[in-house]
Amino acid sequence: MSRRALLQVGAGLLLTTALSPRAVRAAPSTEYQVTAAPARARLAGPARPETDVWTYNGTVPGSLVRLRQGEPARLTVDSRIDQETTVHWHGIRLPNAMDGVPGLTQPPIKPGETFVYEFTPPDAGTFWYHPHSNSLEQLGRGLAGAVIVEEREVVAIDRDLLWFLADWRLTEDGEIASRFGNRMEAAMSGRVGNTVTLNGRVSETEAVRAGERVRLRLVNGSLARIMALRFEGHRPVIVAIDGQPCDAHEPERGRILLGPAMRVDVMIDMQGEPGRRYGVIDDFYDGLAYRLTELAYEERPPLRAHPLDASLDLPRNPLPEPDLATAERHDLTLQGGMMSSMMTGTGSMMGGGMMHGMMGMGGGPAWAINGMSMTGDGHAGMEPALTFQRGRSIVLAMRNETAWWHPMHFHGHSLRVLRRNGRPVLHRQWQDTVLMAPKDVVEVAFVADNPGDWMLHCHVIDHQMAGLMTVLRVA
Ligand code: C2O
Ligand code: CU
Ligand code: CU
Repeated sequence: MSRRALLQVGAGLLLTTALSPRAVRAAPSTEYQVTAAPARARLAGPARPETDVWTYNGTVPGSLVRLRQGEPARLTVDSRIDQETTVHWHGIRLPNAMDGVPGLTQPPIKPGETFVYEFTPPDAGTFWYHPHSNSLEQLGRGLAGAVIVEEREVVAIDRDLLWFLADWRLTEDGEIASRFGNRMEAAMSGRVGNTVTLNGRVSETEAVRAGERVRLRLVNGSLARIMALRFEGHRPVIVAIDGQPCDAHEPERGRILLGPAMRVDVMIDMQGEPGRRYGVIDDFYDGLAYRLTELAYEERPPLRAHPLDASLDLPRNPLPEPDLATAERHDLTLQGGMMSSMMTGTGSMMGGGMMHGMMGMGGGPAWAINGMSMTGDGHAGMEPALTFQRGRSIVLAMRNETAWWHPMHFHGHSLRVLRRNGRPVLHRQWQDTVLMAPKDVVEVAFVADNPGDWMLHCHVIDHQMAGLMTVLRVA
């Protein structure tokens, strides 16, 4: 079965009937076998050469993993790539030993070895999985896939679609450019590529039907590319961010912002005209707007005369509400990058010692959190910067003192986003990856209820590797 067919079986089929209360649900397997192995993929369409990629189960994106909220899952990962790897289940609140960070939560999976991940996802929603070992190269070569955790309740939609978006840097002859870890890039925007795929291929059109309500799950699986999607002629409504339902709302100025690793679920009532096409534009970077795809309406008459009259809200997940009155407060200040004192060697913020010279350029870290640079990927001996007593409510004020954007990600918890630059964030949103603009200050809160050592890092992977990473312990 082709990957496309697979996605349709996985996503399309079961939800076309979701409107009837006795909807037939395909029993999702809670046992998965995931093999990391090289393969070839036609990323840029039939006219372009194939690309050597690294895959989960032979495809990019890797097999869709479909789990059920509150039901145990067992995922057996074996590796046939020729370097150590792990799998991290991004955004899922799971036991620390299942978090997939080499050296911190598990030994790395060596070539030819197997590791079994077992956990019960407490939250329904859109998540994803990727390596946490040499991630810049492993994610950059294609190791990534989506995880959908199904709600217990039926959601009133006609179709459930997944757009797994990924950014690639391809050479003229269609291969993945091999120089990973360019120091200059690491101190700037990171490795932004030149080819964006939707479910593993450059997309011309995506078929829709007039009158249908689609739940569209957007996943940004890029190393570094930030996206801002606009749907011409349509009004998507955001119903979940990073898997967590929020109050349904239209995105600001109609642009859906998606930092690397972020997920946004939108509901779209397809109110366009049968036979017409509508562009989906990503215009995040000034002067570099491009058409991600087009919604291509079938000729068939509308499915219904008026938009579906059902609530857009998704059932909330069982997240512990932080107690702001008694919360412990901490600051996390993001520092460094090109144009900072860290890069010119004139600053004193690192406190001398090993830190003089051309930070980042001469081989040292380019970034820091509270003056400390943890570099590379998961490794042994990562000491926690902060320790929280289990059950405490925590408020983190993240201050971006740099001139660059950072999608800041915390493992093992979801963060209630409270304020951005002093203003309350509306829509009761929870995120595991918070996109910060240059100079932004964002306050988030959570209950430290999941014991273990958890990474907090920028998900522009070059930034993480070059020092924008720390570990927080829940004891
Ligand atoms: Cu997508 Cu450390 O994670
Ligand atoms: Cu993660
Ligand atoms: Cu960053």
